[in-house]
Amino acid sequence: MSTIDTAHTAELREILFQKACEARQNAYAPYSHFQVGAAVYTADGTLHVGANIENASYGLSCCAERVALFAAAAQGMRQLHTLLVAADTREPVSLCGACRQVAAEFATEHTVIICATVAGSAYKTWGIEELLPQFFHKDAFHKDALRK
Ligand code: THU
Repeated sequence: MSTIDTAHTAELREILFQKACEARQNAYAPYSHFQVGAAVYTADGTLHVGANIENASYGLSCCAERVALFAAAAQGMRQLHTLLVAADTREPVSLCGACRQVAAEFATEHTVIICATVAGSAYKTWGIEELLPQFFHKDAFHKDALRK
C-alpha cells in the first residue's frame, strides 16, 4: 500500500497506469499466458495493486482487478475512487462480470473505471452503472429495504 497525493485526473491515471503495468510483471498466468495488472486508488488516497493469479484447477484463477480490490479492502478500503486495468492488447480489455460486481461493492456514482493497453496507445473509461447496470446492491440488506 502506498499513499499518493493528487486529485488531478490525468496525473492520477498515469500513476495508476504505471503501477498496474509494474504489478502485471508479477502476474502468474502459466495457463493462459495472458498477463493483466490492476491498480486501485481509494477515496482515502491509498494505492493498491494486483495481477492475475491462475491455478492448475483453472476455475480458481483470479483476475488482476479482483486481486487488487481485495488487497485494497483488506487494507481498509471501503470506497473505490479509481480502478485501472492494463493488458497487452490492441484495444483495452474490459472487466469480467465477477470483477464488475466486486467493484460495485465499493463503487459510488463518482468511481472511475479505466481499462488501458500496456503500450499506452488506448484507454476506455466507464462508471460502474455503465459496466454493470442494475447490479445487486448492498443496500438490499439495509433495514429499510427488508420487508421485516
Ligand atoms: N483476466 C484478468 O485478470 N482481468 C480481466 O479483465 C480479464 C481476464 C485474466 C484471468 C485469466 O488469468 C486470464 O486473464 C485469461 O482470462
